[in-house]
Amino acid sequence: MTQSDTVFVQPAYSEAARQMLARKPQLFINGAWTDSSHDALIEVEDPSTGKVVARVADASDKDVDRAVAAARAAFDDGRWSALPPMEREKAMIRLADLIDAHADELAELEAIDNGKPKTMAAAVDIPSAVSEIRYMAGWAGKLNGETAAPYAVPGGKFFGYTLREPVGVCVQIVPWNFPLLMACQKIAPALAAGCTLVLKPAEQTPLTALRLADLVAEAGFPAGVINVVTGYGETAGERLVRHPDVDKIAFTGSTDIGKHIGRNAMDTMKRLTLELGGKSPVIVMPDVDVAEAATGAASAIFFNSGQVCVAGSRLYAHRSIFDRVLEGVAEAAPGWAPRPALDPRAQMGPLVSGEQLDRVMSYIAAGKRDGASVVTGGDSPSDEGYYVNPTVLADVNPQMSVVREEIFGPVVVAQRFDDLDEVARAANDTCYGLGAGVWTRDLAAMHTLAGKIKAGTVWGNCHAMVDAALPFGGYKQSGIGREQGRQGIEPYLETKTVILRL
Ligand code: NAI
Ligand code: MG
Repeated sequence: MTQSDTVFVQPAYSEAARQMLARKPQLFINGAWTDSSHDALIEVEDPSTGKVVARVADASDKDVDRAVAAARAAFDDGRWSALPPMEREKAMIRLADLIDAHADELAELEAIDNGKPKTMAAAVDIPSAVSEIRYMAGWAGKLNGETAAPYAVPGGKFFGYTLREPVGVCVQIVPWNFPLLMACQKIAPALAAGCTLVLKPAEQTPLTALRLADLVAEAGFPAGVINVVTGYGETAGERLVRHPDVDKIAFTGSTDIGKHIGRNAMDTMKRLTLELGGKSPVIVMPDVDVAEAATGAASAIFFNSGQVCVAGSRLYAHRSIFDRVLEGVAEAAPGWAPRPALDPRAQMGPLVSGEQLDRVMSYIAAGKRDGASVVTGGDSPSDEGYYVNPTVLADVNPQMSVVREEIFGPVVVAQRFDDLDEVARAANDTCYGLGAGVWTRDLAAMHTLAGKIKAGTVWGNCHAMVDAALPFGGYKQSGIGREQGRQGIEPYLETKTVILRL
């Protein structure tokens, strides 16, 4: 089937999904569903149709304050942090099992809410969310401090050791591109460390976070440990970040808002981790199997409609194979033709919102104005829903906005290079530093580039491979701190040093 044959009809929702969409808008505070203090609502759209399918609460200042107070009380009385770590681990495993047991329903909700294909949500988002929780649960009982012999005083006179303590009340603000996965990636280390939290999903995609709250209640977490508040960033998010009773902020989203949050958090010196934007390079060396590398480069940008912080949005292919790589990516594009999220054939869905559609289309227009040529795609194939065809731009230069800025859509810019040092320089010519893909069988080239590229993750012969055990985060303006792995729990712990005179 070619792109133009696609019919943009979203299949019917399941009964379980319809029930969820019809629910009374409420917030999950102190272990119970509760009404907002006012009746403002946020409309939830299905991006596959552009139609409003649900309404959720638009948390007021009072609601935010109640959620923070619940998390504060739950932290301060030790109902979570003072539990034996094994009990925290068990509760987390129960939650992971419940998510697993509801995987099909959650995948459908994610597809309806975000527009990503249900098959992708079922293959990636939900199992990854589960593994984030399972992995971090295992750390709950392994967070010991250290003993250290003093360095500058005589031995036997002093004794020192460290304690690791939970940092306190965490505010966790997540974006709309992997809603449940990002939520679980955030709550998992906080819970393992003994923190309590308020989770705010993105206003575009609140559904799975709300369903997660049901599962939190079912898993038997003490009241107030996990609170879920739906609301807008500039109101609820802003108030959460500035709240004096909050100890730590974890945020994933745009670099601009990350900077703004950082400034707000500093007023009360909150602990801060930021996972922000990227403009990740994909480098194809001359020795590769071109067909395989081109398929990989296409997935690197078209997966999740390019709405991925590590999307491989800058393609650099060696001059000797550039034309063939470009052709290969263009040939892969029809396989990524967007379809409604519940269409079982969909590899790629629409963008999340009309706002994102406008943003992506205006980048494509700017690229064309600047002289880029469209190898494939470049258009929106339907008047309803927020679809953009997979797009490849060539004849670009490093000054163009399509090369410099995060587009967050299925748009890749392709450039040639001649040698390794040149491509390393080009890859690093960005304010971002989140990820990079290198395609080669040449071990020396692989390791040399892995060393030269300034990015939090470098992939070899794959892209966007993420695992709960491996630290993830950004260099430069792609963020502060790391999530996942042992390093991912550190930001949720304070270190206390105890020094005793003997
Ligand atoms: P955003 O950064 O505004 O929103 C992300 C989250 O931050 C949402 O939960 C939002 O409610 C919250 N937020 C917004 N303003 C806030 C504030 N003042 N205080 C506290 N929380 C706040 O991202 P947006 O507007 O949805 O997308 C804009 C661009 O950001 C995208 O085009 C993309 O380039 C980038 N982005 C990057 C993501 C990533 O994974 N790195 C995820 C989402 C967006
Ligand atoms: Mg925004």
